Amino acid sequence: MALHCGRTCRQYLLHLAHDNVDFRLPEIKALLSLRNRPFDTSETFKEKSPFCQLNGLSEEDIQSIMSRTVCAKSAFELWGHGKSTAELKASLLRYPVENMAPYLQHNSTYKINVYTFNKTLVFEDRIKKIDALDFLPFEGKVNLKDPDHIFCLLEDYGSDPNEIPEEPFHIYFGRWIADGQRELIRSYSVKKRHFIGNTSMDAGLSFIMANHAKVKANDLVYDPFVGTGSLLVACSRFGAYVCGTDIDYNTIHGIGKASRKDQKWRGPDENIRANLRQYGTESLYLDVMVSDASKHVWRKGAKFDAIVTDPPYGIRESTRRTGSHKDITKPLEDFSGESHVPVSMAYHLSDIFADLLNFAAHHLVLGGRLVYWLPVYRPEYCEEMVPLHPCLTLISNCEQTLSSHTSRRLITMEKTKEPEESDRLMHLADPRFTPYQGHNSFREKYFSGLTKKNAKENAKTTSGE
Ligand SMILES: C[S@@+](CC[C@H](N)C(=O)[O-])C[C@H]1O[C@@H](n2cnc3c(N)ncnc32)[C@H](O)[C@@H]1O
Repeated sequence: MALHCGRTCRQYLLHLAHDNVDFRLPEIKALLSLRNRPFDTSETFKEKSPFCQLNGLSEEDIQSIMSRTVCAKSAFELWGHGKSTAELKASLLRYPVENMAPYLQHNSTYKINVYTFNKTLVFEDRIKKIDALDFLPFEGKVNLKDPDHIFCLLEDYGSDPNEIPEEPFHIYFGRWIADGQRELIRSYSVKKRHFIGNTSMDAGLSFIMANHAKVKANDLVYDPFVGTGSLLVACSRFGAYVCGTDIDYNTIHGIGKASRKDQKWRGPDENIRANLRQYGTESLYLDVMVSDASKHVWRKGAKFDAIVTDPPYGIRESTRRTGSHKDITKPLEDFSGESHVPVSMAYHLSDIFADLLNFAAHHLVLGGRLVYWLPVYRPEYCEEMVPLHPCLTLISNCEQTLSSHTSRRLITMEKTKEPEESDRLMHLADPRFTPYQGHNSFREKYFSGLTKKNAKENAKTTSGE
């Protein structure tokens, strides 16, 4: 750590929540990139660790991350750290006194917390650890209820609950700056939501998606598979104007059978607008309408700042699209003179994703993000299965396990160029842009017709071995 460290080169420590582990770094990166700030972590960072050191940022940058993140619990100005108590002490003694002084003054109050990861300490041991910090020049009075400043000793005992070491692998000490927005997971829980459906997206994941999409105030965000609007709720919380479409008339109009087990039919005001009203963001609700994503209704030139969506996987909802006379193979005279022939056809997963990426390439602003879920059969999964597009750059790809053999991956892409005719041709010619057909049997695999042996054989066939 540099000796004469000014305000901007201080180090910060994030304490990350230990759920949704895969989503945490992309979330922090996206929030930093919203401020055009680099993501510069310490070389010691481990993917599974709940602690993440950040360099080259200001306290305002950290405050801004914490005002949005649902993956980080708390942030600290890091005063020292080390692999042992002696190393921590040496590091703390090197920290510039002028950086500490404003928080240690005699007319201020403070308290020190001890946090241990993967180990529980008895009260006496915690007190001993606090007492061992008496070499720091604290001049204020201790106040446990309402202190002016809070400090924290954080100890990392690794991530293996079956092998907890006697001494921590790493110890950190810092000044608490802010907590993240974990509270939103509870206050926006779908259990307490006005209008829900069978596939309403969990509140925590909805906020993670809005963060990965870098949704910000006054953005225009669109969900083409809007369902009950959980993603619109999360995006409007960050100040975006929101709209959506869905093929299901009942969902869009908030009518039909209720999803709650103690209720038969949806009530008169169970709809997406009412959901936004529940959270005080109705003024950001543009509208929703019935529309088939395979034949979108947007005029050329309509642009969105972000597209955040959860397409159907065909597990709890069908993957259908509307057809047309062109799709009908039996002779029209068989429809005995009807003027309108309603047609509904299977909407294959690979087509859903190809259409979605193509739509995003045309209807996102440059720099705008597409965030969506891709269901995968885990024994067969490889990175090549993630659909690509010449105008969209893959930013992150995070796994959420659904069962031993299935998962869904949260894919974040950024539009990096406007589509040209040559892209369409490249799209057709380049195998990297050819939709992966394996997604189409996801439903069967989900209900597990495939054994692991079959899966390996299948994988060999798809890779052309
Ligand atoms: C996984 S759900 C989305 C759930 C939504 N995120 C929520 O929180 O309620 C997928 C939605 O896609 C809709 N859908 C299925 N096929 C569609 C199509 N061809 N065009 C538009 N929407 C479609 C379904 O009706 C369903 O509401």
